[in-house]
Amino acid sequence: MSAPPKTVIHASEDEADAIRTAVRTVDVATLGPDRERAEMRHVPGLAALLSDPRVSGPIYDLPRPIDEAAVTRWVAENQAQALAGEALLIVTLDPNGEVAGYSRITVWPDRSSAELAGAMRADLQGQGRGSSGMAHAFGWIFETLGVRLMCLTAALDNVRSQKGIDAAGFRRMGEREAVRPDGATRRSVYWEMTRDEWRRRHRL
Ligand SMILES: CC(C)(COP(=O)(O)OP(=O)(O)OC[C@H]1O[C@@H](n2cnc3c(N)ncnc32)[C@H](O)[C@@H]1OP(=O)(O)O)[C@@H](O)C(=O)NCCC(=O)NCCS
Repeated sequence: MSAPPKTVIHASEDEADAIRTAVRTVDVATLGPDRERAEMRHVPGLAALLSDPRVSGPIYDLPRPIDEAAVTRWVAENQAQALAGEALLIVTLDPNGEVAGYSRITVWPDRSSAELAGAMRADLQGQGRGSSGMAHAFGWIFETLGVRLMCLTAALDNVRSQKGIDAAGFRRMGEREAVRPDGATRRSVYWEMTRDEWRRRHRL
């Protein structure tokens, strides 16, 4: 289950409302032309993607076991959370229109904070797309959704994620016990980055 950052920021009501509105209304094609908000028509493709342990194995907050019924519930929950301005589930489509990846952004508007999780299809992994995609998504989350803080976790053995997150300039802040929907726990590396740190790094 997604947990908010260790660092606590208190957003004003206006700031929290602006973040909720951004999450509800943002055009996710501004993140990339091959991106769409996840809808019921994506369920078979998402279930096929996530059934591959090379894709879903390292991710703690997915519904399990992964089948179409569970993914249907997950998409519906994410649609409800999007309406509340508290999450975005986004699919990445390949040139054939198949689901080739996903991103889930959890947002805590009253904490002006967000977390990103995601994965890409196994045949697309390990070619440098992940690191560049992550860095692009971090900037989009800060600047388009308007949050001031992001946190991230990755499994202790997830070298590719760790390298991509370190390279983007996130600060390691120890470990965290990530809790799966079934209650099982997984120790994770934990990072944070503020929007100010992001902007300084990119001279914005
Ligand atoms: C995590 C994920 C998004 C990374 O994307 P990717 O395109 O596979 O990763 P990249 O090719 O950009 O590689 C990231 C870094 O790991 C390095 N790397 C790639 N394969 C590696 C391997 N087998 N062993 C060690 N390092 C490796 C790359 O050189 C790169 O480091 P650099 O930036 O210093 O050059 C992708 O692998 C994925 O979807 N994995 C399954 C789900 C997952 O783990 N999600 C994240 C949960 S936190």
